[in-house]
Amino acid sequence: MPDERNGEIDFVSAREQIEKAAEFAGSQELPQLSFEKGETRFAFSPRALDKSLVYDAVETIKTYIENIRVHTFESGFLVLQGMGDMFSPRAITGGTKYKFLNVGGTPRIEVSCRGNFIQEEIQVCTALFKLFHAGNGAQDPLSVLTELGAQVHKPEPGATGDPWGWIAGYEQTKVEVQESVVMPLKNAEMFRSVATLARGSDQGVMPRAILFEGPPGVGKTTMARIIAADTGIPLVYVPIENILSKYYGESSQNLSRIFDAAAQMNQVILFLDEIDSLAGSREEGLFEATRRVLSVLLRKIDGFDTRDGVLTLGATNRAQDLDHALLSRFDHTIRFPLPGREEIRAIFRNYARHLKSEELIDLGLTCEGMSGRNIRDICEYAERRHARLLLASGAPASPPPVSLYIEVARTRQTNS
Ligand SMILES: Nc1ncnc2c1ncn2[C@@H]1O[C@H](COP(=O)(O)OP(=O)(O)OP(=O)(O)O)[C@@H](O)[C@H]1O
Ligand SMILES: [Mg+2]
Repeated sequence: MPDERNGEIDFVSAREQIEKAAEFAGSQELPQLSFEKGETRFAFSPRALDKSLVYDAVETIKTYIENIRVHTFESGFLVLQGMGDMFSPRAITGGTKYKFLNVGGTPRIEVSCRGNFIQEEIQVCTALFKLFHAGNGAQDPLSVLTELGAQVHKPEPGATGDPWGWIAGYEQTKVEVQESVVMPLKNAEMFRSVATLARGSDQGVMPRAILFEGPPGVGKTTMARIIAADTGIPLVYVPIENILSKYYGESSQNLSRIFDAAAQMNQVILFLDEIDSLAGSREEGLFEATRRVLSVLLRKIDGFDTRDGVLTLGATNRAQDLDHALLSRFDHTIRFPLPGREEIRAIFRNYARHLKSEELIDLGLTCEGMSGRNIRDICEYAERRHARLLLASGAPASPPPVSLYIEVARTRQTNS
């Protein structure tokens, strides 16, 4: 075919992909995919085609396809056209068509083009099918979330003792988290009343999205778990990096479904961890897939529920590298620095309770510049080594001496 496009997917693999996605959507009905007279056609009949769904559908198409235009827009008859490469003859003679038809009370959605679909178009087909079959098979949000690679932690208040003890030191950071996150989550009514009395509106008084920023291993993820444990609100943990690598082409779609499923929960903290995997500003030629994920994030964080007890948290190692539009979605950034001398001692007090204050001074000096995670690792390593030494010498159990911690810490410092 003279005007075959780059990246066309053969019919059989296109059908496989689409059928797999349809199964995944929990649908009994399979969409049709046919190839006749040189034209590929994808079609299904949704139960309803109301305006808001069509609007969502257009947004879905835009997520994958650049350069679309409205071809026909009449009552019950909306046709969009993908222009593809503006310089190819196809842009004028055809392009891929996306039809939303509601004629005679029978809604129908079709995607068709000459030749085969390209990958993005297959993704549009599966995304549209899922969009119009969401809620079919009545999957509960928890299983949708788990299926998509998010983890849901449901805290049981009081079950774990005082969660704030999971992070030693960091008093300043804890106060900031308590004031800007925990108190509003627990006392929404008071915060709203004060704002309404003061300025006649409660807009903006509740935190919607908060960013944790700091180097690796300083307690950002732990803090999110503390907030969940303290407030009793379930935490939906979304490891962005994982989702990106697990789903490639489908990441943006799945991220979008994660937001939708989380929004179905009564109260929820959506924790987007490691958002630096999306780092790099949009101008710098991000990978196409990453760009799509970013655009979904921007849209979804904005739209993510305004109910009380619904909050987005983000964590990053490098806020300065984040896309500016993404950064601006967060109301507030809380910094997690590396622990200072005092803090290092406090962390050791958590993991090596038997050590005396004066023993901790030397140890603290040796560990300057390390993170809480480094310190925890040193402690665990020292315990294991000490246990092996005890076994070898036949001595009874005892905690490791400070000299062993210092030795392990020194080795780590020189190796890093
Ligand atoms: N101040 C601290 N007190 C006690 N433990 C700490 C402290 N800081 C970190 N840790 C321990 O270090 C481990 C790693 O912390 P966490 O996963 O919360 O770090 P993070 O900031 O999310 O790191 P990353 O950026 O790599 O995701 C946790 O198991 C935590 O218990
Ligand atoms: Mg983390």
